[in-house]
Amino acid sequence: MSEEIVFITSNKNKFKEAENLILPLGFKLIQKNLGYPEIQASSLEEVVTYGIEYLKDRVDTFFLEDSGLFIQTLCNFPGVYSKPVFTTIGNEGVLKLMEKTENRNAIFRTVIGFYDGKAKIFKGECKGRIAEEPKGYHGFGYDPIFIPHGSEKSFGEMTTHKKNQYSHRGKALKRFIQHLKKR
Ligand code: IMP
Repeated sequence: MSEEIVFITSNKNKFKEAENLILPLGFKLIQKNLGYPEIQASSLEEVVTYGIEYLKDRVDTFFLEDSGLFIQTLCNFPGVYSKPVFTTIGNEGVLKLMEKTENRNAIFRTVIGFYDGKAKIFKGECKGRIAEEPKGYHGFGYDPIFIPHGSEKSFGEMTTHKKNQYSHRGKALKRFIQHLKKR
């Protein structure tokens, strides 16, 4: 019987990305949308650590994650505010803030928190740039406006498999998977 790993998330796309990397290893991945307070913190790590503390008496073994887009010329905005910024001004709003801006460097970051009696953190980041206009219909969130270094395509133009080869989440998941294999 394959071991079950629970991913606490309401985001189907994040789940699909995790499945793409974890299923081939023989683990069974379960999505649970339990909800936990996403505190307004100054780092992704704090959000994840708080989430683990909140859930660890309710679920035995699980992981959750928090991600953000950090745009250099905007002093790393939206960063930890990526969710409210996406739901308010969206990609069009971010592109407007970047109008006539030459420095389009940005970094996507993911922090995964895994709990199996003790907590462990895995991080991944992806350097890239903000596109001049949205491109592609795959993925979610800021995917159409983020072009990772080493590609001419935005995440929005990539399959899940391709995005995982470049992405912040793909990198964090691969580190997490190394840990799962060693346990
Ligand atoms: P959270 O990790 O769900 O809090 O995500 C923060 C915000 O960033 C949300 O608006 C997400 O849609 C967006 N986001 C998180 N990860 C990604 C990604 O891999 N690609 C594009 N947008 C993302």
